[in-house]
Amino acid sequence: MKAPSSLPRVIGHRGAAGHAPENTLAGFRTAASLGVKWVEFDVHLSLDGVPVLLHDDSLDRTTDGKGGVSNYSLGTLQGYDAGQWFSETYVGETIPTLSETIRLLASLQMGANVEIKPSPGQEAATGHAVGRALREEWPGDLPAPLISSFTPASLAAVRETAPMFQRGLLLSRVARDWGDDMRALDCRTLHCNHRHLDKTTAQEIRRAGYPLLCYTVNDRARADTLFEWGVDTVISDHPDRML
Ligand code: G3P
Ligand code: MG
Repeated sequence: MKAPSSLPRVIGHRGAAGHAPENTLAGFRTAASLGVKWVEFDVHLSLDGVPVLLHDDSLDRTTDGKGGVSNYSLGTLQGYDAGQWFSETYVGETIPTLSETIRLLASLQMGANVEIKPSPGQEAATGHAVGRALREEWPGDLPAPLISSFTPASLAAVRETAPMFQRGLLLSRVARDWGDDMRALDCRTLHCNHRHLDKTTAQEIRRAGYPLLCYTVNDRARADTLFEWGVDTVISDHPDRML
């Protein structure tokens, strides 16, 4: 397993969400065609405990299904269209499983920032299921995945199930006591919303020795400013603008 020290400067957000439907296999192929080396995506659990890619708790915005993703078994979820909402070009795209995604990334030779995005009540179960899948299926010839979450219970669960992979703490705003959660959850990287970040805080995080990732950065000039502050990686819907 390669060390995850090979974090790229640019990660495609939800694949390449500005170009293709988010969290779909078409999105990952698009990211690869743009020259992106790593993608970020969001993982929920189906009713029958299978890790699947979706951002929202609900199917409504990005599929032709309705209601909570955790109310449906994998078989039902696979019948929904996850591409048409974005454009007619993507009719027929489905909600991918994490396993299908890993296989595609292997063939594209892409790395991943896997965000655990649990539905309410599924915090630990989602962390364990993602940890099991990555532990058993992640290809040894790819850089190790970086696992992140806004949810401490999910990070704790994935640490227990897949301790060999590094974890990132996701924050919207970086609070003064940011180091406490990093240490408590043994996180290697900090990921925050660039809109709420300032130069002093960025430098403090870097001085403490933590790689710093910012989402969702779609403007090239803003990315350059963040890199000047010491930010290591930007996560972008338009990664081609940053490359
Ligand atoms: O992982 C970075 C970013 O994806 C976090 O926010 O809501 O886009 O998943 P969100
Ligand atoms: Mg995300």
